[in-house]
Amino acid sequence: MTRFRTTPRPRARRPRLRAGFAALALAGATAGGLLSGAAPASALDNGLALTPPMGFNDWNAIGCSVSESFIKQTADFIHTHVLPSGETLQQSGYTYVNIDDCWAKTSRDSKGNLVPDPAKFPDGISGTADYVHGLGLKLGLYNDSGTKTCSSSHGFPGSFQHEAQDAMTFAKWHVDYLKDDNCNQASGQGTRSATIKRYTDMRDGLAAARAATGQAIVFSICQKGDNGINTEDWSPAVGNLWRTTGDVHTNWTRLDSIIDKNIPLAASAGPGAWNDPDMLEVGNSGLSDTEQKTQFSMWAEMAAPLLIGTKLAGASSETLTILGNTEVTAIDQDSLGKQGTQVSNSSGLRVLAKKLSNGDIAVAFFNETGSSASVSTTASKVGFGSNAQYQQRDVWAHKTTTTSSTSWKVTVPSHGTVLWRVHPVAASTTSSGS
Ligand code: GLA
Repeated sequence: MTRFRTTPRPRARRPRLRAGFAALALAGATAGGLLSGAAPASALDNGLALTPPMGFNDWNAIGCSVSESFIKQTADFIHTHVLPSGETLQQSGYTYVNIDDCWAKTSRDSKGNLVPDPAKFPDGISGTADYVHGLGLKLGLYNDSGTKTCSSSHGFPGSFQHEAQDAMTFAKWHVDYLKDDNCNQASGQGTRSATIKRYTDMRDGLAAARAATGQAIVFSICQKGDNGINTEDWSPAVGNLWRTTGDVHTNWTRLDSIIDKNIPLAASAGPGAWNDPDMLEVGNSGLSDTEQKTQFSMWAEMAAPLLIGTKLAGASSETLTILGNTEVTAIDQDSLGKQGTQVSNSSGLRVLAKKLSNGDIAVAFFNETGSSASVSTTASKVGFGSNAQYQQRDVWAHKTTTTSSTSWKVTVPSHGTVLWRVHPVAASTTSSGS
């Protein structure tokens, strides 16, 4: 397993896993050690994505129609749009502007290099990266670990057996984030061991390219659990985030099933390593306002990447109000890096709790049923010891209620989520909320 560091490690993190990493390193383990099916003892230690990546990806917004002008326009919007908080979208944390499938020519050049389609990207990926970097943002790019990308009817080349070469190309273009998909596997490449090897080869390619160029690239695995192969057991040692489900769509059944699948995976997540239940559909028609807020709330509660997937130019004020709710994004981005865990599920009335770095706990009351309902929990169930009072901040209503009761109940609309940030108040320092 190639390990490298071209910059100092930012700060201590993941003590639980670091001991495991030491043990693995001492044992001289290689990527092959992951192939047995045993859970990895270590996390990828590249110092990147210490909080879930935030930004934009074009796929849910425009599918295969990506272009340099669209990416630049989106970057401009993130850079300039001012939220009610007074911050720009960029200042509120949206950083990555990611190009998805369909950016390349259908053939490599005579040296086997990937080539951006000049009709779509006249300045190439590197010119686009320069522009995005000029705004203080970062650029992401899509590839595929198979022979062709997922948009296979177009025939864009995949990185299979070109991993090191393509990683070097991405680094030289100053790409900051790579989403690596899993379509069109060559014969025999769909097994667990072959899958892990393909992604490990790209991880190692990115490490070598970083050592050679200094370009650090967040590694986003998009294996999605294909072929019945779990991803959350091996991916933390290989990537910074990994898709845990099939593609999100703008319908409730799909969104709810993705939430169902991602909730139990909390133990795999932590700084530098995130479960990825796919990108945001906030702003796209097909989900109600309540359902869109549920996606945003539950993604934050599950410490998921927050990648906007709608056309920002022309987005409604409702859409921008959801995406720009900095009380919600603060829960997602909390430095402790815990994914919220489910503390109860009573026939689809679900409560999750996410510990935050200052001792607060984010509590999500999620109603996946077809009618409005009361959802209850207690201070001890969500993880508090005994406190004199609790300040319950409703991060959508932007209101705080202070209570000394330890039994809590809220009314949650069908498909809705009430999200609280609860602050414990010790006996000697009680104060009223506002
Ligand atoms: C797959 C991925 C999507 C998107 C498309 C592009 O379906 O899961 O997120 O990248 O490929 O073809």
